[in-house]
Amino acid sequence: MSDEATTGGPPNPNRRLALLAGIGVASAPAFARAAVGVGVVPGREFLWGVATAAHQIEGGNTNSDYWVMEHVLETYFKEPSGDACDSLNRWREDIALIKLAGLNCYRFSVEWARIEPEPGQFSEAALAYYRRICIECREAGITPVVTLHHFTSPRWVAGMGGWEDFAVVDRFARFAERTARALAGVVDWFCTMNEPNAQVTSKVLQRKPWAIEPKLRAAAARAIGSDRFHMYFLGDSFKVRDVCLAAHAKGRDAIKAAVPSARVGMTLALQELTPAPGGEALYRRVFAEARAPFYAAATKDDFLGVQTYNKFEMGPEDYLPAPANAMKDMSGYPTQPGALAATVLEAYTHSKVPIFVTEHGNNTNDDTQRIQHLRTAIDGLVGQIAAGIPVLGYLHWSLLDNFEWSSGYIPRFGLVAVDRKTFERTPKPSLKAYGGLVRTLRHTHRWA
Ligand code: BGC
Repeated sequence: MSDEATTGGPPNPNRRLALLAGIGVASAPAFARAAVGVGVVPGREFLWGVATAAHQIEGGNTNSDYWVMEHVLETYFKEPSGDACDSLNRWREDIALIKLAGLNCYRFSVEWARIEPEPGQFSEAALAYYRRICIECREAGITPVVTLHHFTSPRWVAGMGGWEDFAVVDRFARFAERTARALAGVVDWFCTMNEPNAQVTSKVLQRKPWAIEPKLRAAAARAIGSDRFHMYFLGDSFKVRDVCLAAHAKGRDAIKAAVPSARVGMTLALQELTPAPGGEALYRRVFAEARAPFYAAATKDDFLGVQTYNKFEMGPEDYLPAPANAMKDMSGYPTQPGALAATVLEAYTHSKVPIFVTEHGNNTNDDTQRIQHLRTAIDGLVGQIAAGIPVLGYLHWSLLDNFEWSSGYIPRFGLVAVDRKTFERTPKPSLKAYGGLVRTLRHTHRWA
């Protein structure tokens, strides 16, 4: 996660293909020099792809808690998600773009609010819809990776206590089992929850309570006719963490009961963090509260999803401002490409399960910077693979310029631009560059 403000939590000022020909690969990068290490099995499939999330691209997610929050008078969202990228209707175009780029993996999320619009009432049509997406991927030679929960929940979940109530664990497991059963035979890779460590990271860094939260929650509760409203990013983050860890474990078991061959993991928001002098205690606290419990839980999983956007130096009270000469993203956050290799190393060291880079990207209008950032980061990743870390794949965030949560449509993470009126997709040079890089790597390492 790049910033809790963009994912829908309280704003925190300190936070945050030459297959198609044309663009060459950087000269003599490490990946061209790296020896094939134990993490790289020649001929083995390495998953190269892109990631998206339902609420950020589908559009019209009216039954979700985020939609409610986007429309209350007191909302802190810059704009509502609305039609998003209209991927609800244009998902075939999205898959075609991934295929055109020469990539072989697509991580997307299913929307709980569509699959289970009311408690216990499952939509066969919604389940069939997501099954068609998986089938289309497979027919295009693209491995689908399905995320069950990417921040959004049905509004009824929020009204029943959301992620601050252990009762959601059984609700999530039932949804996970029903969805996995519907997708059996067409998908093997599942992510249970997206970045369940993000809220607790923000909480540890938060110095004072977010003043408008009670008012916001009251307004959202009124809007859904409940006396409460509990979203993933609001409330008691320590409780949310514990509930999420329980939901992940029960969700994983439910998926495996439905699809015994499934490979299941969760994804974590992992900035590269280094303590500056005086910042050691806070650094240790973030690690103890927002990383260690998740690494421990991941030891029972098939993989751990690493999601990295930024590198921060930890000061005594918060992240330190980025050095003046640091490469920054559109939000002003430091975006060193070396952060990816660092977080992959940290995650593997503490979990000892195969690593899957399920998100990594750069919020920028400068596509040349995006290409450079991508090449350097992948160069570092290949270095870690050569050093022996088992890495299953790399998924770039994101395929499309999409709805960046409370920041609306201003941030630009996409390899493909989307016209906000017609939803026409226009590939950026970075899509071609990424495909070209992948082709070179496959050739160099004989990756399938
Ligand atoms: C989230 C995405 C988000 C991206 C960029 C990740 O934390 O999973 O939903 O768009 O960061 O901020």
